[in-house]
Formats: sequence, structure tokens, C-alpha cells
Amino acid sequence: MAKIGLVGFGGIGIEAAKALVLDSSLVCDIVAFDRPEALSQVPGPQQGAYEEILDAIGILRTGHTIRLTSDVKDLAGCDAIIFTAGLPRRADQSRADLIGVNVAIVGGLAKQIGEVAQGAFLVMVTNPLDAMVELAFRNLGFPESHVIGQAGVLDTGRFNIQASLATGVPASQVDSIVMGGHGPEMVPIYSTAKVAYKPLADQVNADVVAKITREVRDRGRTIIQRQGKSATFSTAIAAIQMVKAYLLDTREILPSCTRLNGEYGYSGIYGGVPTVISRAGGKAVVIPLTDAEKKAFDESMGATKAIIAELDQVSK
Ligand code: 2OP
Repeated sequence: MAKIGLVGFGGIGIEAAKALVLDSSLVCDIVAFDRPEALSQVPGPQQGAYEEILDAIGILRTGHTIRLTSDVKDLAGCDAIIFTAGLPRRADQSRADLIGVNVAIVGGLAKQIGEVAQGAFLVMVTNPLDAMVELAFRNLGFPESHVIGQAGVLDTGRFNIQASLATGVPASQVDSIVMGGHGPEMVPIYSTAKVAYKPLADQVNADVVAKITREVRDRGRTIIQRQGKSATFSTAIAAIQMVKAYLLDTREILPSCTRLNGEYGYSGIYGGVPTVISRAGGKAVVIPLTDAEKKAFDESMGATKAIIAELDQVSK
């Protein structure tokens, strides 16, 4: 049975555990890791969620198990890890504003995880995503195929649903992708976006295209403004989709933040690109882009380079 580590049992980690327990296609042992101060808080969100999830397993009578731990060593033998530890952003912050505080948390934990959980496939979720996945890669000592960032599945889901709402066609008939970094410069790709197998761009006018792009890029902030905290449920679902692709060897192409080796003209840097995920890990896939899309992708990668420069500065 697969062993899945949830590093960070806060908003996203808790939602991920709930979603995993509901998923009968992947019966797994869940190890939920968080700081001892968080886990010893009673009443507290971690303990409360843990007890409820236990009861849910009892109701569903599945083979899942879950345990809470503040000992990194309990992550030994994990097949996959979803890393969400760190502070989430507030409405008045950009994702990039979190770099100072999250560098210490992510860097330190990644080093410890690298010592006990070699062989695992790690999906980074903590923001600023493009920098945190690079930081984790540097500290884990895992191969680059096994350290990947979640952003594109969420951003693409947001593109899919906006295209669905704009055309009145269910999301099941929408096929789209968002590329680039997980920031305001992310790039919804219209040249390949299809609704019911027909180009999306033929079904909406320029104003609607602009509105969809705006909505997709602002979605993270909109959610914080509406619910008072950053996205947890959708983010957890996105990370689980990636972990399942790995564990079940589905070989599907999912938009992921993947270390590039010449693809799209970049090397030695993470970029949000289509990625085939299999039991071999993640591997970037090149798709044709229009000149305008490639230019927008390059601009977004420029923002990623800037945040990596900041990461280098902060982690000196
Ligand atoms: C978002 O875009 C949490 O970064 C995540 O909502």
C-alpha cells in the first residue's frame, strides 16, 4: 500500500487527507507531519481534523490509515510527499512576499526529509512556489524528476472553469493549460485551448478572453478575499492529482512546475510546463506556442528568475 506523507497538516494538508480518504482508487497510509506545538494544541485544528478523519475511515470502512506525527523520521519509506508547510499569504500579500519567512521553514525541513525519505516523489505546494520547489530540490538531494511543484494543475483548473462558465459548456469538455510561473504573469494558452474539441478562441470574443485571463491570474487573491484564507480544497485536489499520476503510473500530462533541461530554451530552472508524470517521475513536454505565447512565457520565466535571485540572496 502506498505511503503518502503530508508535510504540513494545516489548511491544505487537512483537505488533502480528507480527499485521500474519500478516494477508493488509491488506498494509502497517510502520515501527517506538523510542528509539535501545532499537534499538541487541544482543542486545535490538527487534532480535531485527525479525529474526524479517523471516524470517516470507520464510516467508509476503507483500508486507509492515518497518523499524526511531529517526527520527520516517520516519513521514512514514503512513496510520495505533499509539502505544504509554511505560511500562507494574506489578501494584502503577493505570493512573492512570503519568501523571507518560508525559506527557513522549507529549507530546513527539506534537508531533514532528504535524510530519511530518499526515493519519494515530492510535490511542493508552499509559496512562492517557483522558489520553494527550487529550494526543496537543492536541499532534498532527490533527483529532479522526483521534485516537482504544484501550481499549473490549480491554475489550469481555474482556466478550465472560467472557459466553461464563459461558454456554458461543462468543464468535462474543456481542455486547456496554463504555463509559466505561479504569479501574476502566468500564461493561459489560448492557441491549444479547446471547448468541445473546438478552439476556445473561436467561441469567445476578445473582451471575454481578457476577462478569463484576468480571472485566472487573480483567482488566488479572489479566494482569499472571499473566504478570508487562501485556497485549500482546490489546492489539495490539484496536488493529489499529481501524486496519483505518479503512484498509479498514469503517464498523463499535467501542468507542473518542473526542472527544465533545454525545454523552451531553459535549463537548470523550474518552469510551469506540461509534464508527463509516471512512476519515473515528472518530465517536461514541449508543445508548440505562438510567438506571443512564447514571449509571455519568457516574461513569466523572467519573474521566476527574479524570485530565484531573491532566494539566493535570502538563503546566503
Ligand atoms: C493559490 O493560487 C494557494 O497559491 C495558491 O490560490
